[in-house]
Amino acid sequence: MKWSALSVGFLISIGSIFYTNSLVTELKERESKTIDLYAKSLEYVLNETNNDNLTFINQEIIVPNNTIPVIYTDANKNVLSERNINYKAQSTETKISKILEKEIALMEAEHPPIVIELKDQNGEIYDYNYVFYKNSRLLSQLRYYPYVQLSVIAVFAFLAYLAFSFSKKAEQNRVWIGMAKETAHQLGTPLSSLMAWLEYFRQDPNLNKTGLVEELDKDVKRLEMITARFSSIGSVPVLTNDNILDILNETVSYLRTRLSTKVNIEITSVISETYAMINKPLFEWVIENILKNAVDAMSGVGEIHIRVIKANEGKVFIDISDTGKGISKPNINQVFQPGFTTKKRGWGLGLALSKRIIENYHKGRLYIKSSEIDKGTTFRIILGP
Ligand SMILES: Nc1ncnc2c1ncn2[C@@H]1O[C@H](COP(=O)(O)OP(=O)(O)OP(=O)(O)O)[C@@H](O)[C@H]1O
Ligand SMILES: [Mg+2]
Repeated sequence: MKWSALSVGFLISIGSIFYTNSLVTELKERESKTIDLYAKSLEYVLNETNNDNLTFINQEIIVPNNTIPVIYTDANKNVLSERNINYKAQSTETKISKILEKEIALMEAEHPPIVIELKDQNGEIYDYNYVFYKNSRLLSQLRYYPYVQLSVIAVFAFLAYLAFSFSKKAEQNRVWIGMAKETAHQLGTPLSSLMAWLEYFRQDPNLNKTGLVEELDKDVKRLEMITARFSSIGSVPVLTNDNILDILNETVSYLRTRLSTKVNIEITSVISETYAMINKPLFEWVIENILKNAVDAMSGVGEIHIRVIKANEGKVFIDISDTGKGISKPNINQVFQPGFTTKKRGWGLGLALSKRIIENYHKGRLYIKSSEIDKGTTFRIILGP
């Protein structure tokens, strides 16, 4: 669809340039014929003594030329007369002659001058005059016209595209936010009921001994966290200055208990405290998404390495590397698109959501720093001012 629109646009451009060029060629021929006639008339006038003919030629040919710039000179390029040359009326004598001199050079570069032979009574040539001329303004304008036209169209198309993608983005935003709010809202009711039940169970000394209450409590906490995530993404999230390393350690230890023991997750940082402005529930969600993808890419066996780096201007880099199957070049540009997945049970939402969280809600960046097939992938998160 994109390509067919582009190729039709390309054909229209070529056609328009081609058509205008043929118009230009035709008009140019006609102008050069007019000038030829003009020069011949001048020659005739100069060598003729019959006054009737002179008036006729002057009125019919020389005066009506209102478009083609012409300079008529003697053999030494001294200007004898000119027509249709633009110079300001108030210019001084010397300025005008400068302008005309320049014009002559320009004209000569465009067309060789037409030579007028001056003859005496016996038909012997005794001197030459020149007629210099250049393309009329109409012709020069016409030559640039398709380019002007095409650039105007290109600018318009670009603006239309911007407006379109902007409204598409706005629509996507509404869908994301609406779904998230609705989910948080729907989870709210059973969750408060569960919490009430939990309190009730806690009062029962028999149940308390079995450890059941603690397990239930963990699950309820998890549900609370999920609700917090959805409600954060459905509203303007509050950012707080948090220790990233602590949060990474928490998230990783939560995941570790649920992953195969053949996945080794390591966190390194030069310093023990790295602060950045984040929304904790959303940031944890991003880390979870990236780590889950990494585990999937390694089919449950391999190394995950998280490096926290403090960069210039208070920025924090978080690089998450895996030793998984890597991402192919064409897919690298697609993995952040909502709905893109290579998994049987995937929704293709994890990375789209993560990018949204980091770039829209934290004004940071999330991208693939590097990826090599069968070697692994590194995602980079940039946080900070
Ligand atoms: N670390 C990685 N190594 C290799 N491929 C990856 C990695 N992370 C993501 N991908 C590719 O990007 C795709 C999109 O990832 P994303 O998390 O958005 O969706 P998903 O994991 O397929 O589904 P879900 O919505 O359940 O997260 C994946 O299907 C996978 O092909
Ligand atoms: Mg995923």
